[in-house]
Amino acid sequence: MEAREASGTQPRTERADFQATADPALMEAADRTADVKLLDYKELYELWERQQWQTQELDFSRDREDWHQRISPEERFQRMYGLSSFFIGEQKVAEELGPIMRAAPTEDQKIFLCTQIADEARHVRFFERFYREVGVLEADGLSEMLAETSAHLNDNFGRLFDEMLAQRTARLSVEPEDTEALVEAVTLYHMVIEGMLALTGQHFIMDFNEREGTLPAFVEGFQKVARDEHRHVAFGSVFLREKAHQDERYKQAIQRTLEESLPVADGVLSPPWAEEDDFELFGYSLEETREFAGTCLMRRLKVIGLG
Ligand SMILES: [Fe+2]
Ligand SMILES: [Fe+2]
Repeated sequence: MEAREASGTQPRTERADFQATADPALMEAADRTADVKLLDYKELYELWERQQWQTQELDFSRDREDWHQRISPEERFQRMYGLSSFFIGEQKVAEELGPIMRAAPTEDQKIFLCTQIADEARHVRFFERFYREVGVLEADGLSEMLAETSAHLNDNFGRLFDEMLAQRTARLSVEPEDTEALVEAVTLYHMVIEGMLALTGQHFIMDFNEREGTLPAFVEGFQKVARDEHRHVAFGSVFLREKAHQDERYKQAIQRTLEESLPVADGVLSPPWAEEDDFELFGYSLEETREFAGTCLMRRLKVIGLG
């Protein structure tokens, strides 16, 4: 069990719909070879058409009972770090993707990124519905809710999104032809934020709720979010593989961005209330969480041509 989790694949991601994304992190072959087949941009678009889902279909009544009656106030507080990071993270990535989409050099890339903007919007609504139906916070509108939940975040989260990512997207807004800036933005967005942080957090949060038997509708929706994220990261992998093979400069841009952002991303894995590194979150140590994130990143980098 432990070894399988550390390897990046689990029963969920062995399912045909997860495997269909061809995210390199879900392929054991990527431990050994860079020569794995990835979907092209058009195939990724077609997969998006086949993988639609609705936040409106989820029934959160059992989740509401769990949240108020089965989960203690202390545990609710601890869970707020993960929930808030995702909720705010989804809103930020939804809004930062526009300049990346406009800067993408080909039509096929742009069309796929348009589908991703729609996905990220759906992820924001998923969290909003969960918060509202379950009664996680009392806030009137979406902006009030986001402001209230942001109190649970840590400083590294702000550095990663509001400084590192926002700088790159601001650059692309004024200079969409700057392909090197685009490579940096995709590395940060698709490889680090989605690939390393989001998919790692999702794995441990779903695993924890499944073991505890809590929040069934949340888990059902979050699985769909995770499947979308694997498709997004598959786009990042095929795009960066193409660029890394095109020009040494792009390869260096990927490396540079990883070196700059990985320590900050690592800091996002620790909640603000954890004073030492020996805390447990969702039943796992920081070391186990890092190992999972690291294995997924190594597989993707190998396939891109940097491993
Ligand atoms: Fe998302
Ligand atoms: Fe995403």
